[in-house]
Amino acid sequence: MPLTAVTIPEQPVRRIAGLREQIDLHNKRYYQLDDPLISDAEYDELMRELIALEQRYPALLTPDSPSQRVGAEPLQAFEQVTHAVPMLSLENAFSDEEVRAFDKRVRERLGVDEVEYAAEPKMDGLAISLLYERGILVQAATRGDGRTGENVTHNARTIRAIPLKLAGRNYPERLEVRGEVFISKKGFAGLNRWARQQGEKEFVNPRNAAAGSLRQLDPSMTARRPLSFYSYGHGICPESALPETHNELLSRFESWGLPVCSEIEVVKSADGCIANYQRFLRQRLALPYEIDGVVYKVNRFDFQEKMGFVARAPRWAVARKFPAEIAMTEVVAIDVQVGRTGALTPVARLKPVFVGGATVTNATLHNADEVRRKDVRVGDTVIVQRAGDVIPEVLRAVLEKRPANTAEFAMPTHCPVCGSEVITIPGETTLRCSGGLYCPAQQKASIIHFASRKAMDIDGLGEKLISQFLDKKLINTVADLYDLTVEQLSKLERMGEKSAQNLIDALEHSKQTTLARFLYALGIREVGAVTANLLARHLGSLEAIAQADEERLQAIPDIGPTVAKHITVFFRQPHNIEVIQKLRAAGVRWDDVVVEAERVQPLKDVTFVITGTLETLTREEAKAQLEALGAKVTSAVSRKTRYLVAGSNPGSKLAKAAELGVEMIDEEKLLSMLAVQ
Ligand code: IVH
Repeated sequence: MPLTAVTIPEQPVRRIAGLREQIDLHNKRYYQLDDPLISDAEYDELMRELIALEQRYPALLTPDSPSQRVGAEPLQAFEQVTHAVPMLSLENAFSDEEVRAFDKRVRERLGVDEVEYAAEPKMDGLAISLLYERGILVQAATRGDGRTGENVTHNARTIRAIPLKLAGRNYPERLEVRGEVFISKKGFAGLNRWARQQGEKEFVNPRNAAAGSLRQLDPSMTARRPLSFYSYGHGICPESALPETHNELLSRFESWGLPVCSEIEVVKSADGCIANYQRFLRQRLALPYEIDGVVYKVNRFDFQEKMGFVARAPRWAVARKFPAEIAMTEVVAIDVQVGRTGALTPVARLKPVFVGGATVTNATLHNADEVRRKDVRVGDTVIVQRAGDVIPEVLRAVLEKRPANTAEFAMPTHCPVCGSEVITIPGETTLRCSGGLYCPAQQKASIIHFASRKAMDIDGLGEKLISQFLDKKLINTVADLYDLTVEQLSKLERMGEKSAQNLIDALEHSKQTTLARFLYALGIREVGAVTANLLARHLGSLEAIAQADEERLQAIPDIGPTVAKHITVFFRQPHNIEVIQKLRAAGVRWDDVVVEAERVQPLKDVTFVITGTLETLTREEAKAQLEALGAKVTSAVSRKTRYLVAGSNPGSKLAKAAELGVEMIDEEKLLSMLAVQ
């Protein structure tokens, strides 16, 4: 085999290794130690350099490279994964007595007087299993029903808290780490701010947001969610690799670069557990993430083994749950709100009630499915829950208190604001008003968005003024804002000549903007500030973005098929082009953008099938290298296959390829294709 074709100079080899080491270190500083050494921009710079080098030398790309966190193709569906060691759940305890009873059962079964427990916060996220082979992350799976879960490897790779490669070297050859994927309180607040700006519905709570984010078919969506991870246990692991206690195992995990929650404490007996619970109860609000209780685990592994399991939970652990912050009140009305993108959200208007540290008058009913499931009616007495920063929600109606003559609530078939038909898009649960900018609710929300701080940043132009402009028919689209005059404005309520002039000045000032802000201000679905920035950096001009087809857009890292579709559809609408032209004619302008080096994808969408044994590469490596160049690698030969790469002992695929007239190439040819690109 002529290996000269893939000979690589030594300098990039060293630089790539150095960059990977630096990036891994910064991930650790950020996620494990919460003590970053460099800014996000500097981090991005390192990552960009690494990606550029790996694209130049695809043979150096390995699956554990930190660059591999993004860029995998969207999936059609998740594969099933069978858990060799079942993923169990936990028994719950709701009182001190139940904890004492648990400790008593443990002591009796073990025949000892006192037991040591590892006390860990019960993170409010979802369980994940991470399989490391020779220290490399090879598979990630959700818990599912405990026996079979879903393969979410591509998505897990995008979570920077999850190491792609373990640090050190004394880890077992095969190790399954289990833990919780979650979203911090700050991350959750940011996510909902983003959802609001996009006119999308907000997430119910951090757990739902984490679960929804991990189960995205398009990894680029997961990559944009602020997911975090803590390890709390093991699945597959040779007995010889286990220390004596759970706590020591977690310390080992830490030494291998796996994040472990810093709040873990080792306590003795039921008294220790109860004191620990009191501490968490006090500190709960100050913690940077949501927890819904504390987990007590018998610390010694030999004791755990002796205790065994019942049904779906271990006998050696218990979850002490926090009481939920709930209250009872009455539903005065159910309104349906229309967001910027037309999404309909049913909201219960409540008799004011104090819960979880605040007075609540509105509670979300989320969507049509939830309303139907909970059957909440006007006049009902309901249980509402408020947890931390989460939007209050109606948990259920108290049926015993339901007055006579209440009617089941139905989502409207027509928009409550503009009367347009309500539609659902296949694959979405959200009902939407089809009125677009004809709908005053969508129109108003999109103008508020246009003027907002991260968009055109029009100082002093808020919801109240925008409502007046619309009511008085002073404006119709965002472009009309720039035609407003001091005379028109000073006639409005509570608006003197001075404030009118200030607003005109602010409008004038906003005209000098950036391409990214302008794009964001347009309010294209799913194009938030980050995506707008990416588009600007990669395509450089509005014309290039407007003309790019879906394929071109998807070549930009982090832009998936859904966003690409929304962008092309947006720029196909004549009324959108008209508004843009009018804005530019009014003097909205920005400086040129320096276009970033493009990701080279010379094999974009060329389909390969690999069969038989290759000599210099494993099939996985060949696949990874081909995919890095944009190729698709599938397992079955079909009419779509462009090349069949045949190693030794190729099997039946050869005949199939011959039958379909698919071009066959050998390993040598493959290597030269990889090297030339
Ligand atoms: S141990 C056999 N530890 O709670 C033990 N679980 O109700 C199984 N969870 O599915 C889990 N924090 O998603 C464990 N420190 C922690 C946890 C934790 C959160 C979740 C996990 C699990 C569920 C069980």
